Amino acid sequence: MTVTLTPPAAPSRESASAPSSTASVAAARARSAEIEAQIAADPSRFRVLTGERPTGALHLGHYVGTVANRVRLQRAGVEVVLVIADYQVITDRDETGDLRGTVREIVLDYLAAGIDPERTTIFTHSSVPALNQLLLPFLSLVTTAEIERNPTVKAEALAAARRQGRPMSGLLFTYPVHQAADILFCHGNLVPGGQDQLPHVELTRTVARRFNQRYAAASPYFPEPDVLLAPAPTILGTDGRKMSKSAGNALELRDDEDATARFVRRAKTDSERHVTYEPDRRPEVANLLTLGAFAAGTTPEALADEIGAGGAGRLKHVVTEALVEHLRPLRARRRALAAGDGPDPLDVLARGNARANEIADRTLDDVRDLMGMRY
Ligand code: TRP
Repeated sequence: MTVTLTPPAAPSRESASAPSSTASVAAARARSAEIEAQIAADPSRFRVLTGERPTGALHLGHYVGTVANRVRLQRAGVEVVLVIADYQVITDRDETGDLRGTVREIVLDYLAAGIDPERTTIFTHSSVPALNQLLLPFLSLVTTAEIERNPTVKAEALAAARRQGRPMSGLLFTYPVHQAADILFCHGNLVPGGQDQLPHVELTRTVARRFNQRYAAASPYFPEPDVLLAPAPTILGTDGRKMSKSAGNALELRDDEDATARFVRRAKTDSERHVTYEPDRRPEVANLLTLGAFAAGTTPEALADEIGAGGAGRLKHVVTEALVEHLRPLRARRRALAAGDGPDPLDVLARGNARANEIADRTLDDVRDLMGMRY
């Protein structure tokens, strides 16, 4: 058999333009709108796979940017699978901290936010051996040059070459292919996320397509997943940079109402009196409007109109009230769960891991059959 790594001649989505070019972002937006309509008509066609690295408890940026959207999809009847990607934590650091404690906090955050473990599967990478084994055949389907084109890998390679940061580990180099295994082990066909997910999912599509061509030509085995672009823009922290735990600019979901008020008080604004929603020109004011509108169930534009001449003081007051109000039930649930009222987060995880293992074992079994590795 001729083994080729070149893409098929047929029109493919890995076209000349980079996955994050304006044209492909516009295409991804159009595709996401189509998918939203399909979800409304028949949610059972989709299985969502997404997740995060357990580097800390979840913050408001995670919640507004992704977790709330997962809860929405779950409630719409889409099957959701969430990976707590513990193997990704060791891609770029030696110290993992208290992983078990961090994972527990994240499960608590999910449950408090409305993730229902009866409908949504939560699992940890390291607990699902068959998923990780898929990495080996998948690595054979891509070239090192293709991996090097992944923006995250490229940025790390550049930094390492300039001796900024640490040398890149082999696990970091292969992590885009590992993510393909995360998505494909459960036949996930939808990955919600921002534009930064586009190149990752493109590589997953490549892996799926080549696997199908090579081993399952008669009837494609893996789906080629789509990105469902997130409705909310990236949330900024108090200093106007992307919210993240390591930047020290975040409001954690487990924080209380005083911390919420402090967070909004400290948030940067600008010197213009009249409040308007102009994300490009006034990112900090736009960020507060996004948060306030999300919490109050309105649009940033409408909220800006409502506040207008009230200025930054009024804006901060309104956003604080809206956030405190919106997060009240979530925080109450979280406190109750943390105090042992409700399912134990580590039990929820154990059940999720059992289910993920069932799915992954079945997939690896099929893959062995398709590859002729049945002994
Ligand atoms: N890398 C993602 C993050 O840090 C987490 C993740 C792991 C993921 N595997 C994935 C996201 C597969 C989407 C699909 O948040």
